[in-house]
Amino acid sequence: MKAGQIIRTIQNNDETVIFRYPRWQDVPAYVEMCNILHQERVMAYHAETSFAKGCKRLSGILVDLETGKRAHVFIETNRQIVGEGSLQVDRAHRMGTLGIKIIGKYRRRGLGRETMLLLEAEARKFGLRRIYLHVWHLNEAAIHLYQKIGYREVGRVPEWYSMKDETGNIVYSDLIEMIKDIGE
Ligand SMILES: CC(C)(COP(=O)(O)OP(=O)(O)OC[C@H]1O[C@@H](n2cnc3c(N)ncnc32)[C@H](O)[C@@H]1OP(=O)(O)O)[C@@H](O)C(=O)NCCC(=O)NCCS
Repeated sequence: MKAGQIIRTIQNNDETVIFRYPRWQDVPAYVEMCNILHQERVMAYHAETSFAKGCKRLSGILVDLETGKRAHVFIETNRQIVGEGSLQVDRAHRMGTLGIKIIGKYRRRGLGRETMLLLEAEARKFGLRRIYLHVWHLNEAAIHLYQKIGYREVGRVPEWYSMKDETGNIVYSDLIEMIKDIGE
């Protein structure tokens, strides 16, 4: 059983931060994190997460984790889940698809970089040779992080997404596809 296993523990801004696999008991803390990200208008959580929806999503994650279809890392500090990173395995191409989210209060502390590198190590354990992700071109923080650790743009769909900004104006964002080669 992988559920709940600790992958790495670090000291960060005088707090102990644990990177670990999810476990079933995480449902309330997971739902809380999803809804903080929703309030922050993070696109992956564009709808509110009910307790039932959180149960369903986490059970899917746990099944995938235990059956080797994905790696999923929760970032925990002070008994709160403050972020997550996921790497979905696509065996046909020895490629994995990565996603990462950290709540606002815990950004710019190196946790994103740490999570990306842990997921890269997980990808190597799966025998993958390439990690793929996509990101909106307006998301400068994520693009800087990805570029800094070796991801390169391999494709772009112009004006893939439109949304209203705070003043009600429609803004368009390109979808950028990026990859990192991690092995033979
Ligand atoms: C993208 C995200 C995961 C970055 O996580 P983070 O923990 O803040 O990143 P780190 O502190 O590890 O930063 C690593 C590097 O990324 C870049 N970076 C991170 N945030 C940045 C920002 N706001 N502006 C510019 N560069 C930024 C910097 O190069 C930084 O290195 P530096 O601090 O030495 O300059 C985080 O902002 C987030 O979760 N955002 C909301 C969800 C999201 O957009 N996910 C990605 C969807 S594709």
